[in-house]
Amino acid sequence: MTGFFRVATYAVGLIGLFAAFSHYGIPQLVPEPPPVEERVTGTMTTEEFVTVGARIYARVCVLCHSGLGDRAPKLDAIAMAWRERIGDPRYRGKAKNLEEYLRESMVEPSAYVVKGFGKPGTNDTESPMPEATKGALALNPGEIDALIAYLQSAAGTQVTVAPRAGLAAGAGRPTAEPSIGEKALDAVTALQKFQCNTCHRLPGLATEDGAQPLGPDLREIWRTAANRVAGMNARDFLTESILFPNKVVAKDFESGLMPEDYGDRMLVAELLMIVDHLAREH
Ligand code: HEC
Ligand code: HEC
Repeated sequence: MTGFFRVATYAVGLIGLFAAFSHYGIPQLVPEPPPVEERVTGTMTTEEFVTVGARIYARVCVLCHSGLGDRAPKLDAIAMAWRERIGDPRYRGKAKNLEEYLRESMVEPSAYVVKGFGKPGTNDTESPMPEATKGALALNPGEIDALIAYLQSAAGTQVTVAPRAGLAAGAGRPTAEPSIGEKALDAVTALQKFQCNTCHRLPGLATEDGAQPLGPDLREIWRTAANRVAGMNARDFLTESILFPNKVVAKDFESGLMPEDYGDRMLVAELLMIVDHLAREH
């Protein structure tokens, strides 16, 4: 039990740091490293393994699974909730225990979509959560196991996965990700890579004259972003606007135009750079 508390405190500390970081909007001077590369070895203790999972969780999953539970469900009661999930007639997966349910939720998020959290317009049949082993997240099997260990530990239940040898950093991770393209190293390159400038006027990018852009002018969004939605700071609002563009639709603009799949195509580092760039005074 002491082990669990120590890890939980550690994870809460990390999550706190992450929240403070986004709250104060400290500009990032150095681009983030690639999404996650945690070393998992066969000789780790369960406690070390859980700690690796906590670090991955704080860096990747907290982006949506914040303590608020508004963008994605809170996972602290999952040890109780999973039975209800798999008993639901809407459940399309194969899980028979908590470990399997957690793995399936990450690898195949649409096997069950928690009520009210589906992609808009899909009647909770499609999950907005990116597949954890692909695209932007691209976690390897060792990292998935570490996350399961962390989630089980944080939910106060028995850890049923053990570190496996041979799943060192990067194992199973594709070296080139053709679907997501080369990683952008700064915000302006990232905005160009995702062609945000075809629809938006943006800070730091030359404005093309002529055609009226399809989307709002974002050159001064840093002035208003913190005041758009009650309880959301500028970075949260921008993150949500990019990952779930139809949740809050800008006045005088149409919904359904902005691509809804950036969550599948962007690296976490690219998203963070873009959010920082738009949230900062120019
Ligand atoms: C882009 C946002 C996003 C990210 C990033 C994300 N999730 Fe999710 N996740 C969701 C949403 C939304 C749901 C609810 C819809 C569903 O059931 O699929 C969800 C559901 C889940 C569930 C099932 C919850 C339940 O109550 O049944 C688990 C487990 C989960 N996520 C784990 C993770 C882990 C671990 C990570 C980090 C690797 C992660 N998620 C990253 C958005 C996200
Ligand atoms: C095909 C056109 C298109 C592309 C490409 C596009 N957007 Fe948008 N975007 C829109 C439209 C239209 C809106 C307004 C409707 C809405 O809020 O969903 C919008 C809204 C936004 C908002 C919220 C603005 C506000 O004031 O509420 C942000 C932030 C944003 N986009 C950022 C981006 C970023 C960053 C990219 C690139 C990663 C991008 N957009 C790519 C069309 C686009």
